Amino acid sequence: MSRSILCATSALSLILALPALAQQSTDEVSPEAGAMVDAFQGISDAARAALDAKAAGIPTEAGTWMVAAANPLAVEAGARVLREGGTAADAMVAVQAVLGLVEPQSSGLGGGAFLVWYDAESGEVTTLDGRETAPLAATPRLFQNAEGEPLGFWDAVVGGRSVGTPGTPALMEAAHERWGSAEWASLFDEAISLADEGFTVSARLAELVASGEERLRRFPATEAYFFPGGEPLAEGDTLMNPQYAATLRRLAAEGADAIYTGQIAQDIVTTVRGAEGNPGVLSTSDLAIYRVVERPPVCVEYRAHDICGMGPPSSGALTVGQILGMLGGYDLAALGAESAEAWRLIGDASRLAFADRGRYMADSDFVPVPVEGLVAPDYLAERGSLLSGDDALPEVAAGNPEYDHALMWGDDASIEFPSTSHISIVDAAGNALSMTTTIENGFGSRLMTNGFLLNNELTDFSFRTHAGGWPIANRVEPGKRPRSSMSPTIVLRDGAPVLVVGSPGGSRIIGYVAKTIIGHLDWGMDVQTAIAAPHLVNRFGTYDVEEGTSAEGLQEDLQALGYETNVRGLTSGLHAIAVTPDGLRGGADPRREGIALGE
Ligand code: GLY
Repeated sequence: MSRSILCATSALSLILALPALAQQSTDEVSPEAGAMVDAFQGISDAARAALDAKAAGIPTEAGTWMVAAANPLAVEAGARVLREGGTAADAMVAVQAVLGLVEPQSSGLGGGAFLVWYDAESGEVTTLDGRETAPLAATPRLFQNAEGEPLGFWDAVVGGRSVGTPGTPALMEAAHERWGSAEWASLFDEAISLADEGFTVSARLAELVASGEERLRRFPATEAYFFPGGEPLAEGDTLMNPQYAATLRRLAAEGADAIYTGQIAQDIVTTVRGAEGNPGVLSTSDLAIYRVVERPPVCVEYRAHDICGMGPPSSGALTVGQILGMLGGYDLAALGAESAEAWRLIGDASRLAFADRGRYMADSDFVPVPVEGLVAPDYLAERGSLLSGDDALPEVAAGNPEYDHALMWGDDASIEFPSTSHISIVDAAGNALSMTTTIENGFGSRLMTNGFLLNNELTDFSFRTHAGGWPIANRVEPGKRPRSSMSPTIVLRDGAPVLVVGSPGGSRIIGYVAKTIIGHLDWGMDVQTAIAAPHLVNRFGTYDVEEGTSAEGLQEDLQALGYETNVRGLTSGLHAIAVTPDGLRGGADPRREGIALGE
């Protein structure tokens, strides 16, 4: 393990120093937690205890407030805000600011996010759309070659073409303006200190830098930051990011306008348009006109709970809601988590939901999405009745939900890879926040400016414009937001939250979130157990079975039911908080580095 201090003072100028960093003792912790504690030197005893709890498979307990996210340093920033009486919206700003530094591959100021808010005073659920947006100069053929054929995925991702107008800074500000109580500028204190003084590179970041080397080296600013002195960042390195600190100081002083106008906006545009080999079309006007959009939440009833989440342009709440709605008539509790029959029902409900998703779901500001029809109880009962056989459905097609437009769309084939991050928070007043935040692919477009990476969110659009002669709902259009799978969710019972949950993972997010809700509500699992339970995800027919888990034991039975199976790593990043009569219970995904922390 290297122990260097790395300081990117400018794109090409780096200072390398070697401090004697004391190695954290791992005597008191389990082997798994020990590896992580090493990477998070300086975290509080409470955060270390939370890592231990996660490693032991038990939820974190708290009485008043809680925050769960993908990195202990980010969680501690949020915890400080909540401890001082800030709201969940305040804490989110602090968490996101630190995540953009310590987990730059997943989310940040150059990306977008969706937020679901439960307001304790009014009892209302609100959703905010901070999704990246296609530039006004983008055309439906953005991801096609001169012959009209789709580009290769990586040819589209890496460079300026895939970059949409970021939404995360505006969403942070919008949430704070609506629901915050702490002073805005104070919410960046931890992130600025960590960027100035350095943070310890975690195992996960180091691994991803090493495995993503070729693409990360394509652009000088990105190469300089992740390969200081020519060598990839290593676990345990101390990394400073003074450019990010300077950006945060401006964001703290000027608000989100600091990103959307002026020099930083100009730098974003110059970086996108100047990307060698693959320039994009983003302009300063796109940034100047960016707006967060409040959308109606999508809620579906399941086992006497309301499952509420983000509607279009996310497919998350509709698809999770469809899966659960179709399963409402089947007794999953009696079948149990180890039953192939339970997974047949879940898997085929998911396939049916993904068929509707591929045809109907897109940005509803541009195409008429039959939101109500897709989650109407009659429609879900009809679709759910297709599950009443004994074997895997031989074929699955989109259904015909009720709507007042002709619904003639082609089925899309958007390519979606896992990345992203999720934040769950409950504050002392009882407000709950569920936010999934992304720059899309790991390290996004690989373009970096002012200390943060720019997204490649536009590759969440369909590269093709038509299928079978019909237009594809999720095709690129100027000013449109690409369809997402992000599923920030708040589960309510009698109008009060009982579970705040979400995950990264591309379109597998939908399966991860549905499984966690089923684990908690049907199988009586505590929140940590529900998160850690093995994943089985079926989107398009083949059953993904989580490698190295007891789910592998279900393979033969699933094959006998007619499924192809594919054993693979399924790296969710679920972060959830259960609100129970005995207090708050938090869970963090053992597949990643995060924790749940509360008091
Ligand atoms: N880019 C991940 C998602 O929006 O689903």
